[in-house]
Amino acid sequence: MAAPCGRRSCSQYLLHLAQDNLDFRLPEIKALLSLRGKPFRPGEKFEEKSPFWCLDGLSEEHVRGIMARSVCAKSAFELWGHGQTHGQLKTSLLAYPPENMSPYLQKDSTYRINVYTFNKTLEFKDRIQRIDAMEYLPFEGAVSLKSPDHVFCLLEDYGTDPNNIPEEPFHVYFGRWVADGQRELIRSYSVKNRHFIGNTSMDAGLSFIMANHARVKENDLVFDPFVGTGSLLVACSHFGAYVCGTDIDYNTIHGKGRSSRTNQKWRGPDENIRANLRQYGTEKSYVDVMVSDASKAVWRQGLLFDAIITDPPYGIRESTRRTGSHKDTTKPPEDFCGESHVSVSMAYHLSDIFADLLNFSAHHLVMGGRLVYWLPIYSPEYCEEMVPLHPCLRLVSNCEQTLSSHTSRRLLTMEKFKEPQEADLLSHLSEQRFSPYQGHNSFREKYFSGVNKRGPKEENGINGE
Ligand SMILES: C[S@@+](CC[C@H](N)C(=O)[O-])C[C@H]1O[C@@H](n2cnc3c(N)ncnc32)[C@H](O)[C@@H]1O
Repeated sequence: MAAPCGRRSCSQYLLHLAQDNLDFRLPEIKALLSLRGKPFRPGEKFEEKSPFWCLDGLSEEHVRGIMARSVCAKSAFELWGHGQTHGQLKTSLLAYPPENMSPYLQKDSTYRINVYTFNKTLEFKDRIQRIDAMEYLPFEGAVSLKSPDHVFCLLEDYGTDPNNIPEEPFHVYFGRWVADGQRELIRSYSVKNRHFIGNTSMDAGLSFIMANHARVKENDLVFDPFVGTGSLLVACSHFGAYVCGTDIDYNTIHGKGRSSRTNQKWRGPDENIRANLRQYGTEKSYVDVMVSDASKAVWRQGLLFDAIITDPPYGIRESTRRTGSHKDTTKPPEDFCGESHVSVSMAYHLSDIFADLLNFSAHHLVMGGRLVYWLPIYSPEYCEEMVPLHPCLRLVSNCEQTLSSHTSRRLLTMEKFKEPQEADLLSHLSEQRFSPYQGHNSFREKYFSGVNKRGPKEENGINGE
C-alpha cells in the first residue's frame, strides 16, 4: 500500500493536536515552524480539523523545537506506519526502513506501547489485544511500563462526531513518541492562581497562543499598549522576551484600587504586573509598564519592538476612552469613570483604536515583526472586508473564537513588510473599512442588544472570561 502520508525515505512526523481552539492551531504550528525557517509541509489528505496531522520535511530537532512551544499540540511522534485499517497499518509498518527502526528496538533497551483512541473508549482487554497484535514488529528489548527507554504509540482515529462513532477507526497510526507539547502551561499559568488579576485578564492558553502567533522568542522586546494586568506579558516572558506595556488606567498600572477577587475588597500591596512575572520566575524580563494613552504618540521615533501583542478594550467590561482636554469636551463624557486618575477623558471609538494600533505597529515594529490582537465581531454582520488592513502590514492569519450565538472575536496576526511613508498613514475619517466600528461603542450596543434578546445565559466571556 502506498503510504497515505507520502514519502517513506525520510521521516514523517505525526502531531496529535488538542481539539479546542481549532482555528488557532494551524497559524500556531506555521508560526513555530517559520521561527525555525521551515515551511509547513502537510502530508497527503491533510485535514485541518482533524486531531492528527502528518508533517513532511522535518528533522526530530525541528519537531522538538515546535513541541517546546506549542500549546495547541499535545504530542509528536516519528511516524512509522499509517493506514485506514489495521491491515494497511501492518503493510505500511513492514515497509518502514528497518535501519530507521532498529536503533529503538535493541536488546539492551526497554520499551512500552501506548494505545490512544480518539472519540472512542476501548476496554482494557481490547487495548492489550491491540498491543499484542503488534508482535510482527521486531522488538528485542524488554517491556518497561514505568521507565521505558522508548515509548511507542498506536493511535486510532474514530472521527470527530461523538454522535456517530464508527465500529472501526477511520485511520490508524503507529509511531515513536518524540515529545509532548506545552498544554501543561494552561494549568500552571492559570489566572485562577495568579497573583494580580483583573476582570479582563486574558486566559493563559490564549495568551500563549498569541505569543506563538507573534513568534515571540528569547531576547525579543515585546510591547502591549493595552496591558491591563499583563497576562500577555507573562506569556511572552515565559518564552524569554523582555516585556513592557502601557495602560490608561492608573490603578491597573500601579496595582491599586478595588480587587477583582470576590473575597477581597482592595488590591494588596504587591498586586502588580512585576509581581506576576516574579510569580513565574521571569522578573528579569520585566522592562516596565506606565500609564499612557494609546491614542497619543508618546514614543520617540525609531523605537522598535519585535512584537506588539494586545487585547484592546471593547467597552464590554471596561470603557473605551482616551485622554482629552477641556477643549475637546464641553460636558463630562458619558463613560467618565469617577475613580480614574485621568482628569478629562473622551470616547475612543473602536475604529480609531484599530487605526491607531495599526499605524503605531507600522512605525514601531521591526521589519518582519508581528502585531497580534483581538477584533470583536457582531457575528451576523461579519464579513472579511471588516478586518482592518494597513499598507505596511500583511495579514498572516485571522482566527475566530466564538463567544455567543451573536458575538465572537477574531485573533488577527499581521506582519510588517514595508516601512511606512507619509502616504501610508491611515486616516481614521476616510478609511471606510472601519465603518462597522465607527459609532462609539457600537459593538457594545450590539453585544448587549443580542444578550437582551436571547437572555443572559448566552453572555459568554469576552476578554478572557
Ligand atoms: C481588555 S483589557 C486588557 C486586558 C489585559 N490583556 C489583561 O490580561 O489584563 C483593555 C485595557 O485597555 C485599557 N485602555 C482603555 N483605553 C485605553 C487607552 N486609550 N490607552 C491605553 N489603555 C487603554 C483598559 O484600562 C484595560 O486595562
